[in-house]
Amino acid sequence: MVSIMGDLDVLPGLLQLPYATEAAWKKRIEEMPVGPTTAELFIVAERGGDVVGNAGVHPLQHVRRRHAAGIGMAVAKHAQGQGVGTALMAAIIDWADNWAQLLRLELTVYPDNDAALALYRKCGFVHEGTHRAFALRNGVYIDAHCMARLHPNPPPLPQA
Ligand SMILES: CC(C)(COP(=O)(O)OP(=O)(O)OC[C@H]1O[C@@H](n2cnc3c(N)ncnc32)[C@H](O)[C@@H]1OP(=O)(O)O)[C@@H](O)C(=O)NCCC(=O)NCCS
Repeated sequence: MVSIMGDLDVLPGLLQLPYATEAAWKKRIEEMPVGPTTAELFIVAERGGDVVGNAGVHPLQHVRRRHAAGIGMAVAKHAQGQGVGTALMAAIIDWADNWAQLLRLELTVYPDNDAALALYRKCGFVHEGTHRAFALRNGVYIDAHCMARLHPNPPPLPQA
């Protein structure tokens, strides 16, 4: 996680901070509230025993927004453009649509992140608006697009 998320070729696409430590990531992963009482999900992509990517689903806590979750993902620079992000997104969508009772996935993405925009559009996310001056990135304030994907075929209740 430290080498992928802290890589200066990966970090600019994220809202992570530089100078993260292994100890901080270990604590963060150990404290992730995963388990049967939440739709929270944290997964990694492995190749040859090495972690080459990760993704998270973070459900919203408000009772009226429990159908919604934020998502994020990152792929190691050397593994990008080889379908890893697509595979991570397939797992997220399977989790949301078929298991975790999520109907809305939402995310933010910087407008210059062509690879992420292509992946999200391909997977059914649509642009909903733009946060102006959303975050400071390497000394420059940058906008972020908000995108969301609604469950295309929500599971029906069985007929009585
Ligand atoms: C965004 C990211 C997760 C995509 O992962 P990836 O493994 O490279 O994605 P894939 O190889 O599955 O490619 C996904 C699609 O994007 C397209 N794509 C890849 N790079 C592209 C680029 N520079 N410009 C346009 N499209 C691009 C691919 O062609 C593919 O579409 P296709 O299947 O129709 O050909 C990865 O680039 C990454 O981790 N970037 C740094 C961190 C980041 O920005 N995370 C997202 C934060 S919102």
